[in-house]
Amino acid sequence: NSLQLNAEERQMMRAACSFNASLMDELRTHVRPGITTNELDRIAHEYTKDHGHTPACLGYRGYPKVICTSINEVICHGIPEDRELLDGDIVNLDMTTIVDGWYGDQSETFFIGEVSMEAKKLVQCTFESLWKAIRALTPGCSANVIGRAIEAHALPQGYSIVEDYQGHGIGRKFHQDPNIVHYAAPSQERVLLQPGMCFTIEPMINLGVKHTELDPTDGWTVTTADGKLTAQFEHTILMTDDGPEILTPTKNGPQEGHSFL
Ligand code: MF3
Ligand code: CO
Ligand code: CO
Repeated sequence: NSLQLNAEERQMMRAACSFNASLMDELRTHVRPGITTNELDRIAHEYTKDHGHTPACLGYRGYPKVICTSINEVICHGIPEDRELLDGDIVNLDMTTIVDGWYGDQSETFFIGEVSMEAKKLVQCTFESLWKAIRALTPGCSANVIGRAIEAHALPQGYSIVEDYQGHGIGRKFHQDPNIVHYAAPSQERVLLQPGMCFTIEPMINLGVKHTELDPTDGWTVTTADGKLTAQFEHTILMTDDGPEILTPTKNGPQEGHSFL
């Protein structure tokens, strides 16, 4: 199908995603209590410009910043501001870069100082959910294996899975087909992940209810409806004839099997 990339196009995606991962590793060195999310945003902008690349989020549908910084009950699309990160916060940093016209997209949830055991367990489950979904992928598989794997892992622990925001195909566009949902859905059964297709998996897992609220003031910030904690991790994946290739691995971040506890 038209979403399947050839060898040269796959190389372009590898390069974009590899740069984006290096940006994550750069920000990692700055994440600590007392830094503001605006400072992280400025660092991301500088690093991206210094390498000759383009921040994908800045100006995307009017989004005002380079990265998304989603703290505690903020599920996604939190806008950087002058608020300092505080001991006990959890914050998701989501970043996307355009490199030679191709998009790389990923996110991680970070601990600020010492966080509660409740937060650690939620982040652990969310990280494992992403990896369970990745390991369920096989060439030409149904996209529904993703939601089935995440449900099987997160629901028995009493967490809920956000339905209102999803993963997505990615390439020369930020968001394209296929839609990737993180819960089991009959409609996903006939979506096939063929070799050459690129997409993100980015589960958002909540401590309480799955429902979301959009901040009417800024039009971006998405929070849990009950104000309870939420976490997220995201990778960009290329399906190959040999199975999934993770295009956004970091050098210094948590690797598969990592324990946050
Ligand atoms: N990076 C987000 C994703 O995973 C999208 C952010 S859109 C923005 O799809 F406009 F808020 F930046
Ligand atoms: Co994404
Ligand atoms: Co993202």
